[in-house]
Amino acid sequence: MHPVKIVDLFAGPGGLDVAAEKLGVATVGVEWDASACLTRRAAGLATVEGDVRLYGPSDFSKANVLAGGPPCQTFTVAGGGAGRRALDEVLHFVKRMVAREKQEDIKRDLSRLEDERTGLVLEPLRWALAAIDDENKDPYQAIILEQVPAVLPVWEAYAAALEEEGYSADFGILRTEEYGVPQTRRRAVLIARWGDEDVALPSPTHQPYRKGVIRGVGDQKLESWMTMADVLDRHSDFFVISNYGTGGDPKARGRRASWEPSATVTGKIFRNRVVSPQDVELERFSFSEAGCLQTFPANYPWSGRDVGQQIGNAVPPRLAMHVLCAAFGWGTPSDDQLQSLKTWELREASETAIPHNASQANV
Ligand SMILES: C[S@@+](CC[C@H](N)C(=O)[O-])C[C@H]1O[C@@H](n2cnc3c(N)ncnc32)[C@H](O)[C@@H]1O
Repeated sequence: MHPVKIVDLFAGPGGLDVAAEKLGVATVGVEWDASACLTRRAAGLATVEGDVRLYGPSDFSKANVLAGGPPCQTFTVAGGGAGRRALDEVLHFVKRMVAREKQEDIKRDLSRLEDERTGLVLEPLRWALAAIDDENKDPYQAIILEQVPAVLPVWEAYAAALEEEGYSADFGILRTEEYGVPQTRRRAVLIARWGDEDVALPSPTHQPYRKGVIRGVGDQKLESWMTMADVLDRHSDFFVISNYGTGGDPKARGRRASWEPSATVTGKIFRNRVVSPQDVELERFSFSEAGCLQTFPANYPWSGRDVGQQIGNAVPPRLAMHVLCAAFGWGTPSDDQLQSLKTWELREASETAIPHNASQANV
């Protein structure tokens, strides 16, 4: 297929957009966080700063690809009753939307939910259906969605809905280290392509990481997983000790060595201690280093507040490149394309001068 432009909902600092632009596909992101928008503008990424719910496909008439990583806090509460209830509600709303129940009724019922953020995960579906129903617009040619593993049942419901509408879809959990990201992170991904062509998630290129298993042991058709040392310019061994998630027991804290992939990069990455093998305190990660563990270019212009959260929220550009290529039917990205993620060509911010007003945001 021929992707002209991607409209990226909940675009964050631009993990997916960096990958797309490096593949030569134009993007425009919708994002409401002022700091993430500062980073995006510093990087020269086209941005509409605002609430995704206030826009729709007709505001972005040039885009023929839809992407999104909607927030999902309300139903990721592991095992909690509230989380489960929210998930059941979301699945029910998917059915109502596909049945083309009146938008006002759906909006009204969404606003009555215990947590209004629950409805955000339905926004990409609203956009996809609106494009299908719009006589002046073609359906999105490809759809790409990404979130934490707990969202998989929602992607499953999306896939069924999109298939009914005329898409071919695939979804599943991808492990980032299996795509050459120097980090273990699991993500629920859905890709869909308009028409009845078979679409499939990207095949792994690297071996899965297993604690205690020597690097390089495993399926020899795949490359060895990447380590922190492979991508960071530190010249001696180190350990990263994570500072949370263990109920305060210091002995139980997560520990990864520089010759392993990083643990999942979260919004709290800068709280992690970095120590030498002799337990001497070393400098904690810089913005650039944390970005590199997520496969952002080393010179990515992180800006604004809470850069840790921006980095932790993002989809790793290298994974995004694999996912985009699979969604477009382009196979595996070339080495040159993957290597191009190492640096970012800073561009004029003027390129991003897109009006914030919905009625004028025809981009
Ligand atoms: C999981 S992050 C997505 C990261 C992005 N996919 C990337 O790769 O960089 C979700 C983002 O949605 C944004 N967000 C949440 N609610 C929003 C809304 N109603 N409108 C626009 N953006 C929103 C958050 O500020 C956050 O940056």
